Amino acid sequence: MDERVAIVTGAGTGIGAATARLLDEKGLTVALVARRADRLEGVAAGLERAFVLPSNLAERDEPARVVEAVLERTGRIDVLVNNAAAFELALVPDVTVEQFDDNFAVNVRAPYFLVQAALPALRASPAASIVNVSSAAAAMYRPRQTIYGLTKAALEHMTKNLAAELAPDRIRVNCVRPGPVATEIHQVVANPEERLAQLGAMVPLGRVGRPEEIARWIWNLVDRDAEWVTGVVIPVDGGRVLGPPEAV
Ligand SMILES: NC(=O)c1ccc[n+]([C@@H]2O[C@H](COP(=O)([O-])OP(=O)(O)OC[C@H]3O[C@@H](n4cnc5c(N)ncnc54)[C@H](OP(=O)(O)O)[C@@H]3O)[C@@H](O)[C@H]2O)c1
Repeated sequence: MDERVAIVTGAGTGIGAATARLLDEKGLTVALVARRADRLEGVAAGLERAFVLPSNLAERDEPARVVEAVLERTGRIDVLVNNAAAFELALVPDVTVEQFDDNFAVNVRAPYFLVQAALPALRASPAASIVNVSSAAAAMYRPRQTIYGLTKAALEHMTKNLAAELAPDRIRVNCVRPGPVATEIHQVVANPEERLAQLGAMVPLGRVGRPEEIARWIWNLVDRDAEWVTGVVIPVDGGRVLGPPEAV
């Protein structure tokens, strides 16, 4: 069993919930973080050791408060999965400064300051691992996704910078870059089922992903067996960034 303590943000739904379940199965104690306490409680109810920490990560002092609360309860932090994200589709004339700032606060600022606050605990860990969850949008250039894509490209840059900076502390920093996955995030459009079907048709391997398929790769990077892996961005996307499937 793996006795480490993990923070998973966005753990009430989708990829974060699947990740929390897998880490719990591996023996880790998981702090489940997101805004909706009921969704976090729902996930925690099925787990052995998890506990919930409701938090709005758009607020500037929340990363430090979350870390403090986890340390108060467990005395250690070994793993941080920065998975929560704001996702809004908007054309450039419609984007407000508040929306821009809010998206950066959740997708970039909170991951950075969670790392900063957790640093002393991560330095003390025998096997520290940070995994950031990016998106194929970091490497694709599509209408309505400028802000989302920018935040995810920034997260990937941050992954590599921090991997270099924290390597002397033996803190590994990696990233998983999912393609389209069937989760609640697609509810921002009027017809999510239709959108997922359209997205699946654009994936060379012919379908959208399942949250558990992303969680598996997050685990692969958390696993002590990955102790010589840092600074990588792993696409788990059915080939999405290669472009749409073509007849051969
Ligand atoms: N599904 C896809 O197609 C896809 C593709 C590429 C990348 N991703 C990435 O995968 C990650 C997980 O997304 P998902 O697909 O699993 O979607 P999801 O089910 O909507 O999960 C996103 C989570 O983020 C949390 N969150 C959003 N704003 C927050 C805030 N201000 N403070 C705290 N938590 C917040 C949400 O919980 P609350 O609302 O309760 O706060 C939710 O649990 C995201 O980073 C996303 O960008 C997803």
